[in-house]
Amino acid sequence: MITEILWGNCPDTVQKAAQILQSGGLVGLPTETVYGLGADGLNPEAVEKIFLAKGRPQDNPLILHIGKPGDLVNLCVNIPQSAWKLAEAFWPGPLTMVLPVSDKIPKITTAGLDTVGVRCPAHDLTRAIIEATGKPIAAPSANRSGKPSTTTAEHVRVDMDGRIDAIVDGGDCAVGVESTIVDLTGAKPRLLRPGGVTPAQLVAVLGDLEVDKAVLGQIDQDEIVRAPGMKYKHYAPDATVLIVDGDRESAAEYVRNHYKKSNAVLCFQEELELYEGFCPIAYGRLSQPETLAQGLFAALRDLDGKGYTTVYARCPQGDGVSYAVANRLKKAAAFTVVNLPKRKKIVLKPMTTV
Ligand code: TXA
Ligand code: MG
Repeated sequence: MITEILWGNCPDTVQKAAQILQSGGLVGLPTETVYGLGADGLNPEAVEKIFLAKGRPQDNPLILHIGKPGDLVNLCVNIPQSAWKLAEAFWPGPLTMVLPVSDKIPKITTAGLDTVGVRCPAHDLTRAIIEATGKPIAAPSANRSGKPSTTTAEHVRVDMDGRIDAIVDGGDCAVGVESTIVDLTGAKPRLLRPGGVTPAQLVAVLGDLEVDKAVLGQIDQDEIVRAPGMKYKHYAPDATVLIVDGDRESAAEYVRNHYKKSNAVLCFQEELELYEGFCPIAYGRLSQPETLAQGLFAALRDLDGKGYTTVYARCPQGDGVSYAVANRLKKAAAFTVVNLPKRKKIVLKPMTTV
């Protein structure tokens, strides 16, 4: 199969992409979070092709993408008021809601669950393609399973060339990490995956939010989880990733003391100078956490295929989008973190004169 590149600024791109999707094909689609691998979510044969192209286990459900918030009523039943409040506040945008699924949705799309994840992406071109297709678009991230998500059309080409019909090149993704997922089917709203919409923003609308265990730590393979995708080790580069947590000097000292040939460092732009000679890659600026989100997956991809055995990684703290960045990095590191002791601050006493 020849994978066609459809340019975002070409007038016939929307029509071409919609035609491929309507006829059961696969199209790599830009969104504000990461690129998606889209198919007609109501066509079981088309959806099956997504699993094959990605090498994705079929027990991992797909998110449905809609062109306008009101389309939610076509996919879900018993929609709570909280869902409409969230849609009002954050759609189009980087938020996926898990809701009870309508029986119109094929089982393969939801991996047989009685719920479905739905999102209205904040990308005009992709929303236009969804509208022109006239169907909800099932789209997981457009990476091969087990690889970092794709944030440029070129990443999608590298992973999917020859496996899908087309890629729409809509430029680099603005957010850079996948959407926030919130499950609204339980007694309390539950955060299944942090993303561009922050926990504080969700609490401001919902008043309440539980954080799923899978966000906080490693899940056993045989554990039953609310978010089936969470038990797979995602976002992992070829090397073992080790997060080095501590102030900038202690971290640099730790890396210098442990560094071996064939190791590398994933750090903040502001710390690059500390790791000269230790194969450093900066993924963004600590002072601008949105740049860390934008750069993380590209940096993880850069580290691949270079024969590195261990990558020492610097991870941001705090809430906001840093919380999502830290979650992805910790998953890449299988939650292996070196916690360095805090340095004692030397307090200079004022000199006393006799
Ligand atoms: O930003 C995003 O969400 C991107 C773009 C393309 O929209 N999509 C994305 O899809 O990240 P994917 O398949 O790579 O990740 C979706 C996650 C998976 O971990 C999956 O298990 C979970 O959402 N998921 C999907 N449907 C679910 C459901 N009904 N209940 C719980 N988790 C669900
Ligand atoms: Mg994914």
